[in-house]
Amino acid sequence: MQATWILPDGKAVTADVKPGQNLMEAAVAHNIPLVVGECGGSLSCATCHVVVDPAWSGRAGEVGTFEDAMLDVAEAERQATSRLSCQIRMSADIDGIVLHVPQP
Ligand code: FES
Repeated sequence: MQATWILPDGKAVTADVKPGQNLMEAAVAHNIPLVVGECGGSLSCATCHVVVDPAWSGRAGEVGTFEDAMLDVAEAERQATSRLSCQIRMSADIDGIVLHVPQP
């Protein structure tokens, strides 16, 4: 399965993601710039903030309560389809998902 990250400069990076792997871990494993994952996925840093491409937002699941609060304090400005990528797990539904990495 795959995901694509669009960097702030417009460059696209597509990488393999294992089923069940969260998209923060996948980004860190593939050295995607600006996706840090400082807290290791425990919902306490917001350094895994991404903006889900609108074409995929309906399939990426709902924003959780803690995730919602953390998105409000993310360094880059929150957008309508912002998510914490540690809270999105790869599955057949989102194979090929496109994520925009916001400029902090
Ligand atoms: S990695 Fe810290 S909130 Fe996602």
